Amino acid sequence: MIDDMVSTNAKQDTADLPEQGMALLARLKSKTAKVAVIGLGYVGLPLAVTAATRANPVIGFDIDAEKLTQLEAGTSYIEAVSQDALQKVAGEAFTWTSDFSMLRSCDVIVICVPTPLSAHREPDLSYVEKTAAEIARYMSEETLVVLESTTFPGTADDVLVPILEQSGLKAGEDFFIASSPEREDPGNASYRTATIPKIVGADGKMARLLAVQFYSGVVDKVVPVSSTRTAEAVKITENIFRAVNIALVNELKVIYDAMDIDIWEVIDGAATKPFGFMPFYPGPGLGGHCIPIDPFYLTWKAREHELATRFIELAGEVNASMPTYVVGRLRDVIDQTHGRGLRGARILIVGIAYKKNVTDMRESPSMRIMDVLRAQNANVDYLDPLVPTVPKMRDYPQFEGKTSVAASDVAGANYDAIVVATDHDDVDYAALADLGVPIIDTRNVFARRNLPMDNITKA
Ligand SMILES: NC(=O)c1ccc[n+]([C@@H]2O[C@H](COP(=O)([O-])OP(=O)(O)OC[C@H]3O[C@@H](n4cnc5c(N)ncnc54)[C@H](O)[C@@H]3O)[C@@H](O)[C@H]2O)c1
Repeated sequence: MIDDMVSTNAKQDTADLPEQGMALLARLKSKTAKVAVIGLGYVGLPLAVTAATRANPVIGFDIDAEKLTQLEAGTSYIEAVSQDALQKVAGEAFTWTSDFSMLRSCDVIVICVPTPLSAHREPDLSYVEKTAAEIARYMSEETLVVLESTTFPGTADDVLVPILEQSGLKAGEDFFIASSPEREDPGNASYRTATIPKIVGADGKMARLLAVQFYSGVVDKVVPVSSTRTAEAVKITENIFRAVNIALVNELKVIYDAMDIDIWEVIDGAATKPFGFMPFYPGPGLGGHCIPIDPFYLTWKAREHELATRFIELAGEVNASMPTYVVGRLRDVIDQTHGRGLRGARILIVGIAYKKNVTDMRESPSMRIMDVLRAQNANVDYLDPLVPTVPKMRDYPQFEGKTSVAASDVAGANYDAIVVATDHDDVDYAALADLGVPIIDTRNVFARRNLPMDNITKA
């Protein structure tokens, strides 16, 4: 692709190109450019290992000593990175450190640090800003800096560049900026870092050429767009699209529940239309580091332009109300079957990770369900083969250290009801159905497996 870009416009383009950047372009072409990946989490570690395997030597940077210790032991702590893939490059093409002075030797610096919301649900760019300050301290001339973290349009230009220019170097002349937001989908075995098309936006011809050249070595398909802002907007649009569509089916679920119509059957039916419909599925609420958070980066930014973001806010409201809706359905079922309320009821939550087959607990709606149940004096246990212990979570410190019940203990525990909140594959749903206990199924697992539906309430 990069060769196409160069050859199509060869004569006028190379004539227009500044001298600054040409040496880096040559190093990228010969795969000798050294790459820094800052933030070795869900996004950074797969990128670092993929880049080291396919293209360039990589130094990973992280401030979390525990992660570096695990890498030292050759252990991958991210499901998308196999032990084998890590060990093939660890210590050679891929090394790691917390010493940011090592940035001096790096030609490409990729930022993969968190972009959460503050306690007041506003963008918290402090991780990006701190990282930028470290880069400004050590960056050499003729470096390409890429922002992969998800954020509002304008972050690279308006937040990153001013901090990087405190180095005395000038963007577009002494160093180059690009945005290439990551589209990783944890738990999706069909797509990996290398096979997900990569949006790359940069301001200026040389920056774009360098960024496209770099990513062409790392991933199968690069999709250049006209600016860093456009690239950032692409990512946030994708996540808003998901948030809004999930909110829509969640709203429809509530309406169809009231009409005694099965939303899952409706969606499966609608999905047979070969055009104009794309299935999204309801659930107990939104989870993960992206969909519940990223849309509000745009909401915040839109305020600067005095523009309302009613769709986004409404989707957030609908999705945030789902855990309480599920608890309401549970209360009704317990009332009908046991003739009482939630006080003192013994409830088992099955699946507390935010989605199936992952260990990630960030923003998991299961925690909200557990919290609401506790507030109503129910006794709550959980079963999750992938989350043996509840990790530290900012909003739910009361659950830290709580452990999963063993699958073998469920039958003897006399639960009044069960809520399936996350549909991990590694759960014996047939055994749960056999208990004869009322089950609230938020993921349609029992119908999908053709299990007896006598005790199942979809919600
Ligand atoms: N997790 C996903 O599925 C996903 C998908 C697409 C995009 N994203 C975006 O990618 C970005 C990173 O998300 P993530 O899920 O990988 O987060 P993460 O929490 O898994 O990893 C971030 C890493 O950055 C490290 N870190 C924090 N501050 C640092 C600093 N100053 N210097 C060096 N390292 C630092 C943390 O210790 C952590 O290891 C976010 O903007 C997120 O929205 C995430």
